[in-house]
Amino acid sequence: MPDIMNKPLPLVDQFSRTISYLRLSLTDRCNLRCMYCMPQEDEGRDSELKTGKFLPHTELLSYEELLRIVKLAVGMGMNKLRLTGGEPLVRKGVLDFIHQLSAIKGLDEIRLTTNGVLLAKYAKQLAAEGVKHINVSLDTLVPEKFHKITGKGLFQEVWNGLMTAANLGFKVKINVVAMKGVNDDEFRDFANLALDYPFQVRFIEFMPVGDKSSWQREQFISADDIQSMFSAIGKLTPFTRRNMDGPARVFELESADGRKGSVGFISPISHHFCDQCNRLRLTSEGKLRSCLLNDQESDLKGLLRSGASDKEIISIIRQTILDKPQGHSLQSTLEGEERTTCGGRMSRIGG
Ligand code: GTP
Ligand code: 5AD
Ligand code: SF4
Repeated sequence: MPDIMNKPLPLVDQFSRTISYLRLSLTDRCNLRCMYCMPQEDEGRDSELKTGKFLPHTELLSYEELLRIVKLAVGMGMNKLRLTGGEPLVRKGVLDFIHQLSAIKGLDEIRLTTNGVLLAKYAKQLAAEGVKHINVSLDTLVPEKFHKITGKGLFQEVWNGLMTAANLGFKVKINVVAMKGVNDDEFRDFANLALDYPFQVRFIEFMPVGDKSSWQREQFISADDIQSMFSAIGKLTPFTRRNMDGPARVFELESADGRKGSVGFISPISHHFCDQCNRLRLTSEGKLRSCLLNDQESDLKGLLRSGASDKEIISIIRQTILDKPQGHSLQSTLEGEERTTCGGRMSRIGG
């Protein structure tokens, strides 16, 4: 019998979007304190641990619980997984967990979004487990500024991580959250990074995520504006989109001196891509979240811990997908006085 006959039917929501991509936030903890993710007003960056702002370990799903959910989701037709955080590499036992994930039949890809601090240490083992795609968050190439943005002087560690990943042949994307007055003076340097190294550099519009977000209208730069700045740096030619591609509009950048690289622009606010969204998220608190920017969640952890059967879990996953909101209304935050945002915190949702 052809293999296609054994494949589960695609998971489709009420707006005809096929949901095939699960993002797992493994922990809300992180070894950095980025200003837009864990802002100062939140009782100070380092006080988070002392004041119990991080989830106690028992509130995180155990690896056994996570594996059970992933197996069921893959059985339902999801085939791509991304591990996020907080910082996924700070969770103890993460490599063993990835090893177990890699044995799940039908799971085509395990990808990772990391701040890169521990990448040099773990890259070899990640490669051995079959991870091929890594996204690294890096908002500046200036070590002192890195310290200011992240609260830690660890730029060199991230750089070493990037070099190690490049040498090992990972497909690396660098995520740069574009912020006026913070890193808009570095776009040319980031362009050179894309031209001189095998990294795709992606600029993300800064989004107001979380009640306590430090987001300010004045700091926002649209993807179109960044793209226009790039016209002065080189020629941009769009790459054609494939099904599995994420939200970025990706271009080949060719400089006047003939160097070539890849750059992308992610524009959740100015041109949202909700009509093509294929994502489902599991937060570090064990809540199933069908939209990054909508606080509607299903308590999967509660269900698991009350002894739910596989059938019940499958049913809640299906219902969450059916209830997935059509999209968000962040554009109105830019246009009007009213500020629309979600209350969920990026460090628990995983971006
Ligand atoms: P790949 O396409 O698999 O590389 O993944 P990705 O780009 O989705 O992953 P990554 O974790 O690097 O996401 C980059 C950032 O883009 C996220 O952290 C968000 O800031 C933004 N983003 C990604 N997916 C969505 C989404 O579904 N909605 C919105 N509003 N923003 C998103
Ligand atoms: N707006 C846009 N991107 C964000 N990220 C974190 N917070 C925000 C925000 N408010 C990005 C990080 C990381 C990814 C997981 O999410 O840069 O690359
Ligand atoms: Fe998907 Fe929600 Fe992001 Fe829109 S805002 S792309 S629906 S996760």
